[in-house]
Amino acid sequence: MKVFLKNYGCQMNEHDSGRVKDLLASEGFCFTEEPGEADILLFNTCSVRRHAEERVFSRVSSLKALKERRPDIIFGILGCMAEALREDIFIKLPHVDFLCGPADLDKIPEIIKRVKSGGRHLIYVKARKSGKIPEFPDKRDVGRNAYVKIMEGCDNFCSYCVVPYVRGEERSRPSDKILKEIKDLADKGVTRITLLGQNVNSYGRGLKEKIDFSNLLKKIDRLLREIDKSARNLKIDFLTSHPKDAGLDLFKAMAMLESVSKKLHLPLQSGSSRILKKMNRGYTIGKYKKIVKDFRKIVKGSSLSTDLIVGFPGETRKDFNDTLKALKEILFDSAYIFKYSPRPFTAASKLKDDVPQKEKERRHSLLLETQKKILLSKIRNPSL
Ligand code: SAH
Ligand code: SF4
Ligand code: F3S
Repeated sequence: MKVFLKNYGCQMNEHDSGRVKDLLASEGFCFTEEPGEADILLFNTCSVRRHAEERVFSRVSSLKALKERRPDIIFGILGCMAEALREDIFIKLPHVDFLCGPADLDKIPEIIKRVKSGGRHLIYVKARKSGKIPEFPDKRDVGRNAYVKIMEGCDNFCSYCVVPYVRGEERSRPSDKILKEIKDLADKGVTRITLLGQNVNSYGRGLKEKIDFSNLLKKIDRLLREIDKSARNLKIDFLTSHPKDAGLDLFKAMAMLESVSKKLHLPLQSGSSRILKKMNRGYTIGKYKKIVKDFRKIVKGSSLSTDLIVGFPGETRKDFNDTLKALKEILFDSAYIFKYSPRPFTAASKLKDDVPQKEKERRHSLLLETQKKILLSKIRNPSL
């Protein structure tokens, strides 16, 4: 059986897709890049903004004719949209055979069997009530770079964000499993490993062992130094950090540990403390700037990236100007800028989405242009 698998989400979604491929490969499935050649079509989806969902709806709709021609073809929607939308997906996409949320991805071979023996409109979801982090076979297809999941889920409930509802409660993987996975990857020739979690800084909460993220980095660094005898220059990256949990312990570990990259992704979201409060972010712009100051002082040769949202409910021109000002002051090495999109289950979705689309677009392009200018001036003057 040939499988077509396309992913639409963040790095964790991309990593999940890779692991699903490894699992299916171990069960004897092959893969194709051509939907028209496939017996099974899988879409690993994202619900973070409406646009992400729309892309999936239009792609999967456009492939409906394949199923009309060959009813034995299997369509599956995987990932965060399966959790967020559940049976509503079948209203718009009746030709889809099954839904599988992020906490059930290890069951895909079993689900495919059930569909082949006549199962229709099957729903495998449970992340809203946590659920374990799926473990996949050790065998994996990797190049030089690989992801390793260290935790999944989020208990922060930023008021705009659907992720805690689709990825479930925060759960960490035991450090021995993580270290074993990293050792196996290094043995396979991987030289750059990106540790993944919705909120890596709260790694270790709820585990039996007493460990936090900085200690995990130390353990990994020790392991890499042991195996890095051929000086392959093994490096560790990580994503994503939450400002309220990023502090001196982390920065000192980053500065001290040779294998740990000096890059930090630290989403600011807004430069207005009033909006940050409404977003339930747990810090003010003043506190964020202090964190950045500590980071840059302690971690030499560092780089800093961020995420920003424009047009959150009630964002005035003054609030927006605070974000613009923060962008100009902090001088990020890169910034991902998003237009606010109301999401199901979230606290903010109960507020009026009152910044007009045109105004969101204006604010969005103004931030993009400003960031572009900042980058150009950084290239001209690297000491900035
Ligand atoms: N766990 C990561 C990823 C969250 S989603 C984190 O905490 O950073 C990635 C980015 O999408 C967020 O940082 C935020 O800037 C943006 N985002 C999340 N929900 C959004 C929404 N409803 N509308 C617009 N952007 C959103
Ligand atoms: Fe979403 Fe906030 Fe959790 Fe990030 S920290 S995943 S933005 S709720
Ligand atoms: Fe990632 Fe999108 Fe899910 S950002 S966690 S794939 S909602």
